[in-house]
Amino acid sequence: MNKQLIKDVKDIYVEAFGEDPILIFSPGRINIIGEHTDYNDGFVFPAAVDKGIAAAIQKSDSGVSTAYALDMDSKVEFELDKLKPLKEGSWENYVFGVIAEIQNRNKVVGNFNIVFKGDIPGGAGMSSSAALENSVVYGLNELFKLGLTKEEMIFISQKAEHNYVGVNCGIMDQYASMFGIKDHALLLDCRTIKAKPFKIDFKNHELLLINTNVKHSLSDSAYNDRRSACENIAKMLKVTALRDATEDDLATIESEVTPENYQKALYVIQENNRARQASKAMEEDDLEKLGNLIYGSHEGLSKQYKVSCEELDFLVEKAKESGYVIGARMMGGGFGGCTINLIEKGKAKDFEKLVSGPYKEKFGKDCSVYSVALSDGTHVIN
Ligand code: GLA
Repeated sequence: MNKQLIKDVKDIYVEAFGEDPILIFSPGRINIIGEHTDYNDGFVFPAAVDKGIAAAIQKSDSGVSTAYALDMDSKVEFELDKLKPLKEGSWENYVFGVIAEIQNRNKVVGNFNIVFKGDIPGGAGMSSSAALENSVVYGLNELFKLGLTKEEMIFISQKAEHNYVGVNCGIMDQYASMFGIKDHALLLDCRTIKAKPFKIDFKNHELLLINTNVKHSLSDSAYNDRRSACENIAKMLKVTALRDATEDDLATIESEVTPENYQKALYVIQENNRARQASKAMEEDDLEKLGNLIYGSHEGLSKQYKVSCEELDFLVEKAKESGYVIGARMMGGGFGGCTINLIEKGKAKDFEKLVSGPYKEKFGKDCSVYSVALSDGTHVIN
């Protein structure tokens, strides 16, 4: 965790409000495999990382509340009984949404001030939004002794995203950010919300992220469209969610759905199976199999689910060509953000050299390379 981040929010808080705040760190996440499966009640394999949001929060007796987004140098004062969503893309929606969802559960939040700052680049597909939502709900739970469990908190964060931000996301991001365990990834069953932790040690390999530094517009509406397509097909199949369907089940309604939607549902069923197989491969230390599943995931995300983009496909192709990346795929919702790569230890610099020049030449901008450490979930910093 970046200590400077914590110091920054603390110093600014004290300067602005003159009191010592509670300090919270809430991490972003990576996801090894299982993409767009969470809202189909399926399996995902995320881990919290050492990058995220630091928040300083304390009660306010000034009669109003204040939220200060340090990264954007943007501050808002608001009244707790007059919350409504602001226009799409406003950072305030993450904060307001969480408060409103707490209020919907008949819990009383008093006025407070919050200062926050993050080190996850926006649009990287590493869930800076879930990290922010979790930091707010966690902070308010501490301050006002709301008695919320971690599970209740992640559902509050998710609902904030649905109702205030306008993205009908699944539960993966909020779960991983809240429940992360140092050095572990979590095989999460998104139906039961129970996870099995896997200690991550890839021996001669490691995980490396490459950020395309692009986020194509319309990604939110494309996300919501896909979610409803999946739900419609589940209805046609008379199952609760696509998690309950097999490829054979799907084949029985092939003539009733568009070829595009057929491929999307097929992707989800296959990806859910890949996530399960990946956990087996990890139990058996079969990295080659894991890598192939990861490449297979990208293929499906790109060709069937159609949430990739030229930049992501380019980085995955380069990974394949390199000879030392044994699995690579786009990560998160898609249309930009990062690829996750399972790469031979000691080859990160070589890989960076191999991709950065051609990437810049083709897309006119730099890509960025990050290594990440798997970390604990949302917590108070003493
Ligand atoms: C976004 C959503 C998650 C999940 C991923 C795709 O990150 O917030 O709920 O659906 O996309 O796997």
